[in-house]
Amino acid sequence: MNDDIVRVFDTTLRDGEQAARINLNTGEKVQIARQLEKLNVDIIEAGFPASSPGDFDAVRQVAAEVRGPVIAGLARTKEEDITAAGNALASAARFRIHTFIATSPIHMEYKLKMTPAEVLKEVESAVRLAASITSDVEFSSEDASRSDIDFLAEVYALAIECGARTLNIPDTVGYAMPNEFGEFCSNIIKRVGRDGVIWSVHCHNDLGLGVANTLAAVRAGARQVECTINGLGERAGNASMEEIVMGLRTRFDHFGADTRIDTTKFFSTSKLVSHLTGVPVQPNKAVVGINAFAHEAGIHQHGVLCNRATYEIMTPESVGSPGTDLHLGKHSGKHAFGERVEQLGYHLTSDQLVEAFEYFKTLCDKKKDVSDGDIEAFLMDRIIQATPVRQYELMDYAVTIGSGGKPTASITLSHKNQDITEAAVGNGPVDAAYRAILRILNFEPELTEFKIRATSEQADAVGEAHVILRYKDIRAQGRGASTDIIEATIRAYIEAVNRLYSAAAAREVAI
Ligand code: KIV
Ligand code: ZN
Repeated sequence: MNDDIVRVFDTTLRDGEQAARINLNTGEKVQIARQLEKLNVDIIEAGFPASSPGDFDAVRQVAAEVRGPVIAGLARTKEEDITAAGNALASAARFRIHTFIATSPIHMEYKLKMTPAEVLKEVESAVRLAASITSDVEFSSEDASRSDIDFLAEVYALAIECGARTLNIPDTVGYAMPNEFGEFCSNIIKRVGRDGVIWSVHCHNDLGLGVANTLAAVRAGARQVECTINGLGERAGNASMEEIVMGLRTRFDHFGADTRIDTTKFFSTSKLVSHLTGVPVQPNKAVVGINAFAHEAGIHQHGVLCNRATYEIMTPESVGSPGTDLHLGKHSGKHAFGERVEQLGYHLTSDQLVEAFEYFKTLCDKKKDVSDGDIEAFLMDRIIQATPVRQYELMDYAVTIGSGGKPTASITLSHKNQDITEAAVGNGPVDAAYRAILRILNFEPELTEFKIRATSEQADAVGEAHVILRYKDIRAQGRGASTDIIEATIRAYIEAVNRLYSAAAAREVAI
């Protein structure tokens, strides 16, 4: 076994998506998984198949379509979870069942209501069952960092005896401190042994130490790191992949270990995940923030002009940070367009590419330069997000904004092959449009989030709207893009309505 390689286990689609307040649909998850494959991650945790039919379907689809990395599915120690994971993953080129149970006193007593002896029995039956389905079984002791180390050593030794080959030590609530966690991992590894197994860590970021704890564990002998793009995840998130990987790469002198990641794909992957989840990346975020390589202070600028290494410990190129937006125009051909789309991290089928190119040409008729941001916005709206079963489609809209009175909107939607038109007055044009749509719908979702942004600094930039609707505790997001910002907001709302229908149907909730 190559001991200076640290395996990267990405859990953006499971722990990351679990935390986003909206659900990604299967198509969006496949987009992210394809990009993770390009990034060269070793393992993709595609979801928790027993948690919902939507998750099962997404794991099945990722397993069928993404052939490079090992595809993992999460399962509690319950028989039905492990069977569901095995079924969802069956078509993968290589797959892993990742089973877990909590081992800390507080979780065992209050959450599981189990004694330590009962937990040991669960570990045994779950790992044996998983190992009867695949030779690649990972076992995690949830809340390991707050567990008794003697009990933990017993649990891991049993998991190995029953067939687990990856042993994960989670800092589930982000409680650990780097030195302490490094020592803790080192003690467990010494007591249980490392022959034929890989030790892994999974650190949450509640005290902002997810990456530091992960790196301390690598120093202690961990050779798998569990992480997410942009640090997405429960509460304050998981350790961020880009920070761990660049830490190892930049300070190989300190760690003597590295990953197989193609770091030049970080910037596009981060943008893709941010776009699809609607969770923005803070400008000063390490590695992928838009200011990560910006030098403002005069002294810094002077130093960088003399020699970039004065203030840059990694180059923007090494993480794929483009510096400036590239622009395409009406003379750009399908090939150049397709290449740009790939560089931005999107993976389209040939039919989707033809459709996207048509939109691109229409956009070129409206504006001279089409920026990366414009391309991303309309790809997301017209190509990637489209809910397969659509209840409502926008047919026409008109908004009148007078100088004195209130704006009026008239909207026509097609529903079950029938056009329905309604009009309403509102406090602003968007309010009027949304009121008119509500008159057409036969239910009333609550608008919980509404954002509009321009895709570039130009006056003719594409406007992108993002809304989240809630109905009976189901949340759905929708994005819309157009050179007309009112149209973008209407499209976003209708997409969210269509997604609410799909999510409600999956959960057998009536609308
Ligand atoms: O945080 C955690 O403990 C987890 C486990 C399921 C690995 O996500
Ligand atoms: Zn977690």
